[in-house]
Amino acid sequence: MTANELREMYLGFFKSKGHTVISGASLIPENDPTVLFTTAGMHPLVPYLLGEPHPAGKRLCNVQKCIRTGDIDTVGDASHLTFFEMMGNWSLGDYFKEEAIAWSFEFLTSRQYLGFRPDQLHVTVFEGNAEVPRDEQSIAIWRKLGIPAERIYALPVDDNWWGPAGKTGPCGPDTEMFIDTRPGEGAGRPGQGGGRFFEIWNDVFMQYEKKDDGTFAALRQSNVDTGMGVERTVTMLQGRTSVYETELFAPIMAAIAEGASRRLDESAETVKASRVIADHVRSAVFVLGDERGVVPGNLGQGYVLRRLIRRAVRFARQLGLKEGFLKPLAESVVDNYKHVYPDLAARREFIVTELGVEEGKFEKTLDRGTAELDKVLQNLKAHGQTSLSGRVAFRLYDTCGFPLEFTEEICREQGVSVDRAAFDKAFEQHRDVSRQGADQLFKGGLADNSETTTRLHTATHLLHKSLQMVLGDHVKQKGSNITAERLRFDFAHTDKMTPEQIKQVEDLVNQAIQRRLEVSMNVMTVEDAREKGAMALFSAKYGEQVKVYQMGDFSLEVCGGPHVSNTGELGHFRIVKEESSSAGVRRIRAVLE
Ligand code: ALA
Repeated sequence: MTANELREMYLGFFKSKGHTVISGASLIPENDPTVLFTTAGMHPLVPYLLGEPHPAGKRLCNVQKCIRTGDIDTVGDASHLTFFEMMGNWSLGDYFKEEAIAWSFEFLTSRQYLGFRPDQLHVTVFEGNAEVPRDEQSIAIWRKLGIPAERIYALPVDDNWWGPAGKTGPCGPDTEMFIDTRPGEGAGRPGQGGGRFFEIWNDVFMQYEKKDDGTFAALRQSNVDTGMGVERTVTMLQGRTSVYETELFAPIMAAIAEGASRRLDESAETVKASRVIADHVRSAVFVLGDERGVVPGNLGQGYVLRRLIRRAVRFARQLGLKEGFLKPLAESVVDNYKHVYPDLAARREFIVTELGVEEGKFEKTLDRGTAELDKVLQNLKAHGQTSLSGRVAFRLYDTCGFPLEFTEEICREQGVSVDRAAFDKAFEQHRDVSRQGADQLFKGGLADNSETTTRLHTATHLLHKSLQMVLGDHVKQKGSNITAERLRFDFAHTDKMTPEQIKQVEDLVNQAIQRRLEVSMNVMTVEDAREKGAMALFSAKYGEQVKVYQMGDFSLEVCGGPHVSNTGELGHFRIVKEESSSAGVRRIRAVLE
């Protein structure tokens, strides 16, 4: 079974169980500052898991593009990827454990669907802790479906609890499903390593909300959130041993082998390098090709993208891939996926150009770093020393962007050792400092639906409309990010705003607030929304039901909500800063006082 067939079959199965298929969201989350990328299918659904009614109903399913870089160091093994597609089905306060698990089992084992042998299936459940009891119910359901006790494992929070990527939000115990790829080997269990067990599906039972103070409260509704990995499942269905052997990776793996300056051997190092290149380039293509694409930079998503590209370049050097190698690799990803993600083909030029520019910049960095290191090494030798301090290695890394692996390699060639432990220490200290910064920046957020963020979110609509009135219709939202302290709004516009324009926009927003406009919401199809002149930011599917928020006669916009019920609740609106965000995009920070 191919990935194409799998996606279709999954959606068809859940349609037959009363689910509505909804579009996947952008990889760059809208209105949620708690994460940089969409990390799971549930992510764009957070407001609905917390109780907002979803326009498409209580049973939903889709395929969602995801990026996770938390496990970047494990990339290169059989199954970990930084970009992957996740198929998911959701119950928003509708069905719960009984149906969710039974349907997972049916889809996995029925001959009509995936047809895995039930005896290949191992499952894990939550073992319980001081706050939440052991998940006896899921155990009983699996038993009833015929999974024997010895293939059901009860594990702690680290394994079987799905928490929000941010600090607060909906969460709950989960049950994960694994396929044993080598049952002939006798006893074994998920998590043992060696690539024998493939985790392919996770059913989360979202009954709780984690609050700011770290406590758990019962949600108004009990939800189901599931995620099944396309790449891993296809690997299992095709009887392969790693995701890189499937048709999703075959073209890029072939392009890597072709571009390499030597015949690639089977050594662990070579295999890892090719896999990392393939994974990272694929992720970079999807980030650049996203409808809300970002470019490489030093902050946020741009920084992650930069790291992915540079890491790919680093491993490419190991295989002897020549400068310019990124282009054919990226092209192969676009061609392989364009029938599923047409945005990639539409943005092909942009993707290839940006990759080339970043590759060029990194080559320069490497040249500069090499020159700098040469100087240091000459100095060391002049003093008869044979060890490079961790501090110097860290400085090369931190201020010149020169990767540690390169420092180590060059030093090795010259018979100089590198104080790795001291480097790691400097690195950790640096990371702690940046983490603290990020925590402070991202306290709160729309994901928690707090009153302040909701007010700022409503103000964002007024701002969007006012900017169009003052600057022109070309002003389109490019992104927004709301914390409890301020809103940040990116929009398409080339010139710096004049002080007069800023004042005009503030006045328009404040007038709309003073007029105490009523905020109302209607559900309609995307086409109807467009016809009514609603500003629509997302590429929703034809015929899809969306929510349209109206603020008096002032603004009409497609949006997931939530919002306050009257603009009079907002207070006084003030723009704190107007600056450039990237080429052709301006950024406004504003507060309500
Ligand atoms: N949100 C769950 C996961 O990503 C389904 O594993």
